[in-house]
Amino acid sequence: MYILGIESSCDETAAAVVSDRKEILSNVIYSQIEEHRPYSGVVPEVAARAHLEKIDVMVKKALTDANLSLDDIDAVAGTCGPGLIGGVIVGATFAKSLAFAKKIPFIAVNHIEAHALSVRLTEDIEFPYLLILASGGHCQICVVHDIDHFQILGQTLDDSVGESFDKVSKLLGFGYPGGPIIEKLYHEGDKDKFALPKPMCSKGNCDFSFSGLKTAVLNASQKCVSSQDKKDLAASFQKTVAEIMSFKMKQALNFCFDQEIKINAAVISGGVAANLVIREGLKKTCGTVPFFVPPVKLCTDNGAMIAWLGAEKFRRNEFNSLDFQPRPRWPLGDQI
Ligand code: KG4
Ligand code: ZN
Repeated sequence: MYILGIESSCDETAAAVVSDRKEILSNVIYSQIEEHRPYSGVVPEVAARAHLEKIDVMVKKALTDANLSLDDIDAVAGTCGPGLIGGVIVGATFAKSLAFAKKIPFIAVNHIEAHALSVRLTEDIEFPYLLILASGGHCQICVVHDIDHFQILGQTLDDSVGESFDKVSKLLGFGYPGGPIIEKLYHEGDKDKFALPKPMCSKGNCDFSFSGLKTAVLNASQKCVSSQDKKDLAASFQKTVAEIMSFKMKQALNFCFDQEIKINAAVISGGVAANLVIREGLKKTCGTVPFFVPPVKLCTDNGAMIAWLGAEKFRRNEFNSLDFQPRPRWPLGDQI
């Protein structure tokens, strides 16, 4: 069975074909980074227009790369939220139109749930598993009991972790997108030069807060005189975030142990999971608990994760009608 997945919730126009046997037949991504770079962040209207321009090209390429035609596709899965609503509408409408024209099922996918389940596309992980979901818009820790059952253990009280990478990069003058830039600077700077705060890390819960850390970076940046000082500050920020993530993973592992929730694995997914410094820290923290991360290409936004959640839902005959409304906000596990 072949599922076509379409993603357009932020600044990537992506399409992929995935089979229920976990084969990724194609996975194409058009990144809008160059369109948004002059603004040092994603501009919703610019994003929506760029999706509209590229979506047909990307879907066609996904089919060509997979060596398939639309007649071979069994269902179309489209991101229907959460995200920047203009872009979501473009992708969801395109996905619905294909399903309508080919008389095949349409599956409305929650982008965050797709990140949460993406690791099952490349690894054989059974439910339940512990998950840190760390992206540009979200930062949550949960136990994933099933494709539609998420037990939230904690979440950010302010910025998401990806947002904090992006804001810190911008305020230090390193530009957009912040995550990969800061990760690179970690290797060029002195990670021990600045002692930065780790908000919420004296508390034994699984909530996060990043705005105080960002303010501390802002204050420290005013004392930076050379560009090397700024690199050192970026490196110190990266180190601090990795330590925060490890601390919170430990809290969550302890919670599962205390509550006798028998998790099969610990996972991090979402764009920030592409960060190798954070991955290494988490792997150490997990000790004997098997630790998994999707491949880097499946951490940031992509169509394969949308198609894969489509495949998981197809197996359960979970389809949606064509009047499904795109949602700018759509919490994890909200079944509508
Ligand atoms: O999952 P994603 O592609 O989009 C959302 O659903 O938000 O995540 C994007 C976020 C951005 O904030 C970006 O800076 C961050 O993921 N990111 C990273 C890395 N690559 C992307 N953060 C840290 N290190 C990276 N290597
Ligand atoms: Zn995402």
